[in-house]
Amino acid sequence: MSHNTIEINRAMDKFDGHHSVWLFGYGSLIYKADFPFIERRPASIEGWTRRFWQGSHDHRGTPEAPGRVATIVPQPGAVCHGMAYLVTPEEFAHLDHREKNGYLRLAIDIHFDGGGSEEGLVYIAKEDNAAFLGAASEEEIAAHIAQAAGPSGPNAEYLLQLAEALRAMGHHDEHVFAIERHLARLRP
Ligand code: SIN
Repeated sequence: MSHNTIEINRAMDKFDGHHSVWLFGYGSLIYKADFPFIERRPASIEGWTRRFWQGSHDHRGTPEAPGRVATIVPQPGAVCHGMAYLVTPEEFAHLDHREKNGYLRLAIDIHFDGGGSEEGLVYIAKEDNAAFLGAASEEEIAAHIAQAAGPSGPNAEYLLQLAEALRAMGHHDEHVFAIERHLARLRP
């Protein structure tokens, strides 16, 4: 599959006719909301876990030297915490462009921290996308992140801002925090 997903995402008609749609963010969408939203609520999705297994050619790396950014992978029993945004359908033009490097919209049940749930969308980069890098140890991921940068800035900034945002929401993500610890040793 091509790593530019804009056309595939634009063709997704699941929420056509809706005045607003819930979007679940688990990576940079937690700490960088560069779009208008009606409401924002801490939330989670079940059966998925966050992993720095996706390559970034356009934000935190380049096609020649991709960075490593977050995607989610299926894991029975896992809970992935993040932030849900209620947006109007018009926002998806910008979001599809922002997430174009391999991420596809997927319909998913979003559970709000305060209770209740809604069906909404999440952007997921699956292993069949051309930018997918796959599993590596957290130490290797940190070493990769330490030396990558792209148009949106240093790759380390993505990891550190995500770790900080999760901590501020009171969530412990051992994968993210282990990479953060290795990164601290590499970037004193
Ligand atoms: C997300 O944050 O939900 C998707 C991945 C990213 O943009 O970092």
